[in-house]
Amino acid sequence: MADSNTDADTEANGSAGDLPPGPDGLPILGNTHRHLKQPMGFFIELADYGDAVHCEFPRIDAVSVFHPDYIGDVLLGHRIYERWHFDELKELFDYEIAPRGLTFTRGDEWKQQRHFLQPMFGLDRLKGFSSAMVTATEQMITAWEDGEELVFNEDFSRLTLSILTNSLFDFDLGGRRQVITDAADEPQAMADMSGLSAVEMLLPSWVPTQRNRQYSRAMDAFDATVDTLIEERRADPDQYDDVLTMMLENEGDHEYTMSDEEIHDHLITFLIAGHETTAMALTFTWLLLARNLDARKSVETEAKTELDGPPTPADLSDLMITERVVKEALRLYPPAGMLFREAVEETELGGYRIPAGTKILLPQFTVHTDDRWFDAPEEFRPARVRSERSDDRPDFAYFPFGGGPHQCIGMHFAMMELKHIVPILARRVDFELVSSPTPDVSMELTLQPAEDVRMRVHKR
Ligand code: HEM
Repeated sequence: MADSNTDADTEANGSAGDLPPGPDGLPILGNTHRHLKQPMGFFIELADYGDAVHCEFPRIDAVSVFHPDYIGDVLLGHRIYERWHFDELKELFDYEIAPRGLTFTRGDEWKQQRHFLQPMFGLDRLKGFSSAMVTATEQMITAWEDGEELVFNEDFSRLTLSILTNSLFDFDLGGRRQVITDAADEPQAMADMSGLSAVEMLLPSWVPTQRNRQYSRAMDAFDATVDTLIEERRADPDQYDDVLTMMLENEGDHEYTMSDEEIHDHLITFLIAGHETTAMALTFTWLLLARNLDARKSVETEAKTELDGPPTPADLSDLMITERVVKEALRLYPPAGMLFREAVEETELGGYRIPAGTKILLPQFTVHTDDRWFDAPEEFRPARVRSERSDDRPDFAYFPFGGGPHQCIGMHFAMMELKHIVPILARRVDFELVSSPTPDVSMELTLQPAEDVRMRVHKR
């Protein structure tokens, strides 16, 4: 971690002609494999070089950014820094997932889409999804046997997928559910198949692997199902209150109309971007509560005193302890892990020159645990969310949902979901952690525990 002088040094030493400092010629290369298996350790070592650090990977020239002010410059300077889509690595896949969805479009196309989709994720519209969140959580608890040992990360993954599909498609998918599940798992399946994490793809040793037919079949089946869903909605739009209907409804009174291809790509984008991220937020929240009994007691007490039953949208603003616990969990274990950008023209960052084409890495997990911004950063202290140094802390010292124009469109959806699920669980079930309280963490498509989080449940 950069010490407190580093920022000043960087400002003093940096000149717009120089590239940021970094491990020259990559002495770390020999160890890259080891480091990338433990991304947090790797980026902490990089941060020793300063707040903007040049690191050269075999295919990629990158700068890792550790200072919140520079992170703000990158996230807010979206005309210069576009999202990096790993184009250089595209040859490694023969398939693109949702190229016209919100996470892949750029420039005016993205802007128009975002403007169109934003109202569908506003607080007012989201209230309608409250009952889907309650029902799915209660169904999960009902299916648990008292005393059963569960793999929490898997149960939470199924739960968040079920809530998303109900909110996007609003009806019992019946036999079609498996098609949706397979498609939502697709990027992870691709990553599993390569055996490498997102960060490891930067390595030279990855021999391109052709995608297996099995996986393109999953996407073909998804495509066909979505086409059918769109047809069904067009035939009977009044019957449903879901995101798909909202996308079609707007066709009439909006100057911009979405093609079926775009609708398809947005649906798969929401499934992928909103499913595992929220599941990991829940898994890490519960892991932290299992290690911190006082916090767990406070969440339980709040759920019992503030709620008569499952939460309704009107209750959510009263669940302040739950909110702090979740936000503190997102600090220690930010599910997105790292954000990626690309400088589309030459620019300057922190006084250093950033050539056009440089990839920019924003490692949330390193910035979120920097002791310049957080006291005892490794400790789980939900109370800090309200008080400690929050006024003088720079804006982008904490950015689990990103920031600027590409800030997570599902942020309110995710927070609402977490504030439904956590108190329902706290009211209804007791947990005993069976697996390691401090599992290693790996950076896959999301930040994940390297081993399953197992808990024994006792129903109340
Ligand atoms: C705890 C849960 C979640 C976390 C931590 C999270 C995190 C993030 C982050 C960090 C970004 C910014 C990426 C960047 O700037 O490169 C992002 C963008 C995005 N997220 Fe989320 N997300 C979560 C849940 C959701 C949900 C539930 C949905 C959809 C229902 C969703 C849909 C999206 C989309 C579509 C984008 C791209 C937005 C744009 O570029 O305009 N996310 N998310």
